[in-house]
Amino acid sequence: MKQQLIEIAYLVSAIMFIYGMKRLQSPATARKGNQLAAMGMLVAIVATLFFREILTPVEMLAGVVVGGGIGAYLAKRVEMTGMPELVAAFNGFGGIASALVAGAEIARFMAPNAAMTGEAQLDAVGAITISLSIFIGMITFTGSFVAFGKLSGRISGNPVTFPGMRMFTILFMLASIAGMVWMAMESGAFPGIEDPVVQAAIGIAVLGSLLGVLLVIPIGGADMPVVVALLNSYSGLAASATGFVLNNTALIVSGALVGASGLILTNIMCDAMNRSLFNVLIGGFGGDSDSGAPGGGTSTAGLTVNSTSADDVAILLSYANKVIFVPGYGMAVAQAQHAVRELSEELAKKDVEVKFAVHPVAGRMPGHMNVLLAEANVPYDQLFEMDDINGEFETTDVAVVIGANDVVNPAARHDKSSPIFGMPILNVDHASTSIVLKRSMNPGYAGIDNELFYNSNNQMLFGDAKASISDIVNEVKQL
Ligand code: TAP
Repeated sequence: MKQQLIEIAYLVSAIMFIYGMKRLQSPATARKGNQLAAMGMLVAIVATLFFREILTPVEMLAGVVVGGGIGAYLAKRVEMTGMPELVAAFNGFGGIASALVAGAEIARFMAPNAAMTGEAQLDAVGAITISLSIFIGMITFTGSFVAFGKLSGRISGNPVTFPGMRMFTILFMLASIAGMVWMAMESGAFPGIEDPVVQAAIGIAVLGSLLGVLLVIPIGGADMPVVVALLNSYSGLAASATGFVLNNTALIVSGALVGASGLILTNIMCDAMNRSLFNVLIGGFGGDSDSGAPGGGTSTAGLTVNSTSADDVAILLSYANKVIFVPGYGMAVAQAQHAVRELSEELAKKDVEVKFAVHPVAGRMPGHMNVLLAEANVPYDQLFEMDDINGEFETTDVAVVIGANDVVNPAARHDKSSPIFGMPILNVDHASTSIVLKRSMNPGYAGIDNELFYNSNNQMLFGDAKASISDIVNEVKQL
């Protein structure tokens, strides 16, 4: 009876996950969707702990208070700019949790009374699911923390390679597969650490950890979005494998959902970066070229830029028919989204048509700009995906680039030596005038100069984006 109640609770939570994810499709319903999926997870956890009599209701409540408290503290404390690192760290923790649960399952077989309770036998299928869970979990763990280091600037964003790296990667993969086969063949009763199954599991964990590092360090600057999405998918696959280890339907379903949606996201990011998924899966992108070196790309030596003032920009915008805002990572750093929304409202009062163009990899995590603009209550019908708006720049009077750089760099179209060559960009340079708001001539994430800044119809408004936009708003109000 208890087992049936648990299965019913798992079914309810799976339905909540699926409906929750469906609601993530639109920014208008995304918040509710997130809450629904979180409730689904609570239902699954409470059902397991309660019906299996693992914890008393009081202990569960204490867990909710402590865990919820830490979560709330982190969510309040973390800056929007720190979100991508936090997401990478969460993926990593998901991976190590899966590996630890699989390890605990081995320990359960090794427990002194396991033989007496008839649990001392591990079959080949069990051995394979445990080894997969450890392997994928450890890749996700170390890979995510390398990504965390790269996103937070603690590790160089440039590709890190060494001679023979590919060979090591392939060797480690083959050795891991051999370890899994060995573990499946040796499975049976295992008395302790000297057992081949335990040794194979430790070997697989070490190889998985090394592979996680080797797969992420060669990936440079502009290619990180693909990695973030892929690690997200790996964390789901690891959880799903753990679900098979524990024979837990909720974990299998939730892991599969994360794994599949992460893979879809990877595909979207591949399209956005114009990379093939095959190259991503063999870890072969960004690693063999020197393309990620700072300062690479088109030479702009000797060229000059036009700089402008907030007053002049305010006049230009107030008398325009159509303006497109292009947000990027710098808007997140400056927290300028509220000021940008205010500016868009002031321009709308003057009958200026205002739109926002969102590049799929703008910022540092998928959907970064959408989250910021939604937080600032920018109407969803003003947000446009790259493919839907790119044709409109030609009929646009002013394109205002707010802290974006790589996603508007025309070198991506023609400069084969550029690390972002082939990446579709927002056609800001097709507008009659473009204005770029940033603090200096420093490059963006890919570490390369941007030829847009030197165009004769481009003007630079130097300074913190929030301060610049606020100055423009004040001026527009006076006109
Ligand atoms: P970036 O190319 O990184 O450029 C951001 C620009 O913002 C910088 O040039 C910086 O110039 C400016 N900036 C920083 N702080 C500012 C402030 N307070 N006020 C005004 N400007 C400020 O940004 P992007 O165009 O959004 O491109 C995203 C890049 O990140 C791509 O290369 C993408 O591949 C990579 N990436 C994306 C993701 C995802 S999933 N979206 C994940 C990892 C990496 P100053 O320093 O001169 O101000």
